[in-house]
Amino acid sequence: MIMLNKKEFFVINGLANKKTLKGSVRINGAKNAVLKALASTILFRDDITLKNVPDIEDVGRMIDLLSSLGCNISKKKTGVFVCKYCKKISHILNPEISSKLRASIVVAGPLLARLGKVSFPHPGGCVIGERPIDLFIDGFKKMGAKVQLKRSMYTLTAQNGKLKGADIFFRTQSVTGTETFMMAGVLAEGKTIIKNAALEPEIKHLADFLNLCGAKIKGAGTSTIEITGGKLLTSGNNKYTTPPDRIEAGSFIILGALAASDIKITNCDTSGLESLLEILKASGLSFKTTKSTLHIFNNKKDNSNFKNIDRIKTHEYPGFPTDLQAPMVIFLTQASGECLMFETIFEGRLNYTEELVRMGADIKEMDPHRIIVSGHKSLRGKELASPDLRAGLAYVIAAIIADGRSIIHNIYNIDRGYQHIEKRLRDLGVDIKRVSE
Ligand code: EPU
Repeated sequence: MIMLNKKEFFVINGLANKKTLKGSVRINGAKNAVLKALASTILFRDDITLKNVPDIEDVGRMIDLLSSLGCNISKKKTGVFVCKYCKKISHILNPEISSKLRASIVVAGPLLARLGKVSFPHPGGCVIGERPIDLFIDGFKKMGAKVQLKRSMYTLTAQNGKLKGADIFFRTQSVTGTETFMMAGVLAEGKTIIKNAALEPEIKHLADFLNLCGAKIKGAGTSTIEITGGKLLTSGNNKYTTPPDRIEAGSFIILGALAASDIKITNCDTSGLESLLEILKASGLSFKTTKSTLHIFNNKKDNSNFKNIDRIKTHEYPGFPTDLQAPMVIFLTQASGECLMFETIFEGRLNYTEELVRMGADIKEMDPHRIIVSGHKSLRGKELASPDLRAGLAYVIAAIIADGRSIIHNIYNIDRGYQHIEKRLRDLGVDIKRVSE
């Protein structure tokens, strides 16, 4: 059961299957890259400038979390933040903020490595499944940390105040796990080897920046990462620039395929979107790409001319991203034919589809990980509540193509990851309003 927050909501008047959206949309910095870059500032002994930082709730929460430790982070201008070196920082992660932000766990790595001690609660985030932290606890133990759990707070203490390099094999590939131990390894004694590491491009991007500043990380972007520990890093003249958000880009591409006649997506890195683009191409979408733009000329006047492929399985990078699964399901409801969507990463990440059925979609649940979507079904506008960030944006896309008016509640979930979404959608021709009570 989703709690309704009625303070702010979106009202969207749908296009009733007309493809009238037009224009261009610029992709912002990637949430899941910049959150880790902010955490990495703990590893530095000088000031760091971060650029292309998106104006989203999760960035605000991460800055609040770091500030509550004593870090000094200030906004210089739109998208530019400076993190000042602070000699004295606390080892206790604020429980209230951490419980609202999954990425808070990533701060534990650099903090424990720098201070020899860290306390944190079980991290929060989207309601998309269990989200355990066993890989983190086991990895820190391997690096020599003692773990205590008291009144829902974990306290980890490194022996003699210093983490030791270790061999860490992930039973399950984990994005935040890989980033956490990569950063912990930077200040640990000796060598840390992460095996079965996640391959997401944001990990290599972070490693490249840390290496520019003195870290010794080899193999990021492959399944084995080797980190040789050393001293605090120095940014010098190096500035961190957040890469474009591939999930935001992918979501706009899906919206463009379904509802635009001609749309240009700019400042996106198309090399990180291969799995999505291959599927859309196989369905019949025409587009042109350069390294940083994607232009859709919609030759399919009616979405029933798109053909669903038989099966899509979410997978770690470079496979189909779980974060694009919900927007993709909206596409599947519109194309013709059946598709099995197999969500392999998170067990609670298909729950949002019940509401799509209320809108007119034909979706059969096989089990918590698998649904069968049969297109081409017209959707009707409804009152909905966003259950999490990605499903929330999927509801927005569904409401845009639907017939009639939709109201979407709990939009703070959408604000967590998408900057000024209603303004950018309005610029493309969407009839969307943010209403505050
Ligand atoms: N897992 C464990 N034990 C752990 C950690 C993870 O079993 O200790 C399991 C999870 O339950 C899941 C799998 O490992 O089944 C993979 O989870 P992962 O750890 O990779 O997820 P994450 O690092 O918590 C990040 C992104 C998610 C994105 C996933 C998968 C951040 C802050 N979050 O989460 O992004 O879905 O990787 O790509 O980077 C989002 O942006 O909406 C979002 C949820």
